[in-house]
Amino acid sequence: MKQIAVLASGRGSNLEAILEAERRGELSGQVVLVISDRRDALALEKAERAGVKALFLDPEDYDGRESYDQALIDQLKSAGIGLVVLAGFMRLLSPLFVRSFPQQILNIHPSLLPAFPGTDGVEQAFAHGVKVTGCTVHFVDEGLDSGPIILQEAVPVIQRETVRTLQERIHGAEHRLYPTAIDLFCRDRLKVEGRRCYIIE
Ligand code: GRF
Repeated sequence: MKQIAVLASGRGSNLEAILEAERRGELSGQVVLVISDRRDALALEKAERAGVKALFLDPEDYDGRESYDQALIDQLKSAGIGLVVLAGFMRLLSPLFVRSFPQQILNIHPSLLPAFPGTDGVEQAFAHGVKVTGCTVHFVDEGLDSGPIILQEAVPVIQRETVRTLQERIHGAEHRLYPTAIDLFCRDRLKVEGRRCYIIE
């Protein structure tokens, strides 16, 4: 059984969806650690409520990105983590971090990549006036939201809706997509060749 760590900076709705999938027996891995770079992240409370170890690592205690990331690596390695799940973790991870977990880091992004990478994926798509957007689960590489794509779900933009309602529907899609992708990873059903990620039957 794969040991999973979730890194989150915010409200943790994806974390919640992942924990619920685990509770329903739909995840062949176990979330054993949640780490946040924000003391007040709701994700930490949600982890504690679910009986999962929750850790706040304060960026102010470290000189820079690499030393912070080294502290993260140490925590994750000593917990025997085999999969790192980014769920709204608002820090860019260093190449040092990415190389420490080769093809073992997943991210979810609120757009159909490669469109609208970076922060505010929903706002960017909305402002552009697209008719279809969605969310993407991908492996993390050293670029920004650029690793091999695992799963995507399309979400249509409804005429005259607000960015807020669009955001809510994308969140709904994320909550279905992320646990599915994590389960595929845990069952060793993902195979990456170049940019392409195949799902093994
Ligand atoms: C999600 O929209 C995800 O796509 C992005 O950060 C957000 C996290 O939301 N990477 P939550 O904290 O899981 O509610």
